[in-house]
Amino acid sequence: MTGFDILRESSPEVSVGILTADLLSLGSELALLEHSGVKVVHVDVMDGSFCPMMTVGPPLIKALKTPLLKDVHLMIDEPLNKVADYVAAGADIVTIHPEACAHVHRALQQMRMMKNANNPERGLVRGIGLNPGTPLEVLEPLLNELELILILAVNPGWGGQKFITSTRGRVEKVKHMIAGSGRDMLLGVDGGVTRDNVAEVAALGVDLIVTGSAVFDGKAAEANARFMLEAVKTGVRSQ
Ligand code: DX5
Ligand code: ZN
Repeated sequence: MTGFDILRESSPEVSVGILTADLLSLGSELALLEHSGVKVVHVDVMDGSFCPMMTVGPPLIKALKTPLLKDVHLMIDEPLNKVADYVAAGADIVTIHPEACAHVHRALQQMRMMKNANNPERGLVRGIGLNPGTPLEVLEPLLNELELILILAVNPGWGGQKFITSTRGRVEKVKHMIAGSGRDMLLGVDGGVTRDNVAEVAALGVDLIVTGSAVFDGKAAEANARFMLEAVKTGVRSQ
C-alpha cells in the first residue's frame, strides 16, 4: 500500500511535529506517539536562511527508527539539489516550498522518480507547502505533479505560534482547485493547531493536520496526542 493510500484511507490524520519534543530522548518520545495511535511524525527542517532558525538534516531523519510515516517539511532554500538526501534518509512525505525554489516544477518531477528508502512499494508523497502570504495561484501549474498541498496557518519559523484565521478561506479555495483538477490529492494544514481549535480545523475537511507544541508540551505528550486524534475524528463526524 502506498503512503498516499494509507493517508487517504485514514483521513483525517494527525501528523505530530517534533520541534518541541525532547530531542535527546527522541526514541521514547516517538514511542509515546506510537502508543497513542498516531501514524505520522512531522519533521520541520529549517536552514537558518528561508527560516531564521536551524533545526535538523538528513542524519536525524535517518536516525528516527519508527514505523510512523516520516513527514518531512523542508523549509529550506533551493531544495532541488537537497531533496534526494532527505528521501534517501527515509522520508515518506516530502514537502517543499515554491517561495524557496526557483525550479519547483522540476523538483516535483525529480521527486516522482525517487524511491522510498523505507519500502519501495510505499512511494513518495510529494507535497507543496504554502506560506500564509503566498497567492494560491502558484499551485495551478503544479497540480499534476503533487500528492499533498500543505497550507501553513503560521509563518515558517517556530512552534507555538497563533493560527492565522485567513487560513480557513484559503483551505476552501484550495479544495475547489483540487476538485477542479480532477485528481485526488491530500490537503493539509500546518501550524497553530491546539486543543482548542483542532476539531474546528478538522471540520474544514482537510486530510492531514500538523500539530507540534500542543502535543509536545513538556508534560503529557501521549495524552495530548490521543486527544488530538480523537478530536480530529470527532470533528469530522459532527459535520
Ligand atoms: C512552522 C512549522 C510547523 C510548526 C508546528 O514553521 O512548519 O510545523 O512548527 O508547530 P505548532 O503546532 O506548535 O504550531
Ligand atoms: Zn511544518
